[in-house]
Amino acid sequence: MSEVSGIETDLALARETLESHFGEAPKIGLVLGSGLSNLVDFFENPREASYSELPGFIPSTVEGHKGALVAGKLGGVPVVAMAGRNHLYEGHSAAAVVFPLRALIHWGIDSVVITNAAGGISASLVEGDLMLISDHLNMTGQNPLVGENVDSLGPRFPDMSLAYDPELRGKARRIGLTGGLDLKEGVYASMLGPSYETPAEVEMLGRIGADAVGMSTVPEVIAARHAGARVLGLSCITNLAAGKSKEVLTHDDVKDVANSVKDRMQYLVKELVKAI
Ligand code: HPA
Repeated sequence: MSEVSGIETDLALARETLESHFGEAPKIGLVLGSGLSNLVDFFENPREASYSELPGFIPSTVEGHKGALVAGKLGGVPVVAMAGRNHLYEGHSAAAVVFPLRALIHWGIDSVVITNAAGGISASLVEGDLMLISDHLNMTGQNPLVGENVDSLGPRFPDMSLAYDPELRGKARRIGLTGGLDLKEGVYASMLGPSYETPAEVEMLGRIGADAVGMSTVPEVIAARHAGARVLGLSCITNLAAGKSKEVLTHDDVKDVANSVKDRMQYLVKELVKAI
């Protein structure tokens, strides 16, 4: 069987499973990063399926990542959330990392809010900030579209000039102003990880235009744009990147800070899904 018909079959099976679990697809999907899965606590009528029950979804190996799909309503709007995601640094191929999001798009979501925890590089960012992603730098050396193109999913050479939907960003900015969130905006660079960056790498990333750095999101955004879904990206600045502060970076601190932005994140995402 060719690679192409393989993924089409896998996506069809995932769609059938999602339909039998949750019924009709909502229009909006959420990808919740490290420490940010608690957003599902605000869902009305939550229904959950663990990744181990869903074909092609890989149970998470990362602490702080729940590893379940949760459908429900947020602010009265039907949504489905990936509470936890897979990362390239876990040893998965880029195609495997993006499979769940592709499956959600195949099921029927057309817009996706992708969140992550990130280290702040720009001097204008402080711990606990929320940053709207305006663009990205793919520093992972990988791309989920490498290999034979699946024409039924999207084009061979998808445009990435408006990867982070300008209209959705405008809505997010307005919500940020109304809610007094002091929402920042900037460029997110994705590294392969799992080691945090060296100060020299952070210095390089800042010079080439990055405002924040993390280890996720970029493969998902590429796959979502390939499939024609609209993307809004949101970073929670959990720490200043290496060399920007004297503190030693730990995953526990990252999770704690992400957890502490819960209320602002909930307000922003809830108002956003109402406005999309
Ligand atoms: N670097 C990379 N990934 C991260 C960071 C960081 O400083 N903080 C949270 N995720």
